[in-house]
Amino acid sequence: MPTKTAARPAGRSATAVKARPASHMSAARSSASARKSSASSVRSASSSKASSSSSTMKSASKTPQPSSKLTEKEVTLLNETISHEQLCIAKYRNASRLASVRELQQIFTECQQHEQNHLTTLNQILTDGVYKKPAGSTGASSGGSSSGMTQSASSGGAQSAKTPAQYKGDFEKDKYLCTDSLSMEKYVSGVYDTAIFEFVNTKNRDALNFIQKQEQQHGQKIYAYMAKNGMY
Ligand SMILES: [Fe+2]
Ligand SMILES: [Fe+2]
Repeated sequence: MPTKTAARPAGRSATAVKARPASHMSAARSSASARKSSASSVRSASSSKASSSSSTMKSASKTPQPSSKLTEKEVTLLNETISHEQLCIAKYRNASRLASVRELQQIFTECQQHEQNHLTTLNQILTDGVYKKPAGSTGASSGGSSSGMTQSASSGGAQSAKTPAQYKGDFEKDKYLCTDSLSMEKYVSGVYDTAIFEFVNTKNRDALNFIQKQEQQHGQKIYAYMAKNGMY
């Protein structure tokens, strides 16, 4: 059954994010090895799915029934990218709360919204077999205006007077959040790079292409912020 790989990385990621932001690398490694693995290893992942118990895992495991129009490989790749998008959403949500500067909070929040759109797109393809542009959407992915900065979920608050040590601490924390996010984007972009080649339908390829382009734009925004602030 194709839902076998969905729950494993997603659940792990969601719980790992809060504790250890750099954990996407291990999730990434695990996903990469899963891709190389045989059908039998995929079957064993299916059994591990059943043992998951956290509430996050439960929501992540509500993966829709895959369309019969998709090949087994396409379903596997969709489940893999879905788990990555879930991780991206959780990490950006966390980063937008932790960032010290409002501008950076907004960058993370906007990225989070894009990742949510990516997740919606992937689930739609998984369910219907072919990408359908949402009503009123201009891009290949749902919603996703890449220009409009939205209000930060967490208010930045007044940047009250801080000691030099506090400024330094905030700077190091923000730099870490940026570096971690940039690394995640690089990895996820690479996953799409490979996945696109395995898809049969042109509409699905185009949708994945659009998502990958947005991942690169996320990386570019984060890089630009880091460069501007002497972090890179
Ligand atoms: Fe994404
Ligand atoms: Fe992204």
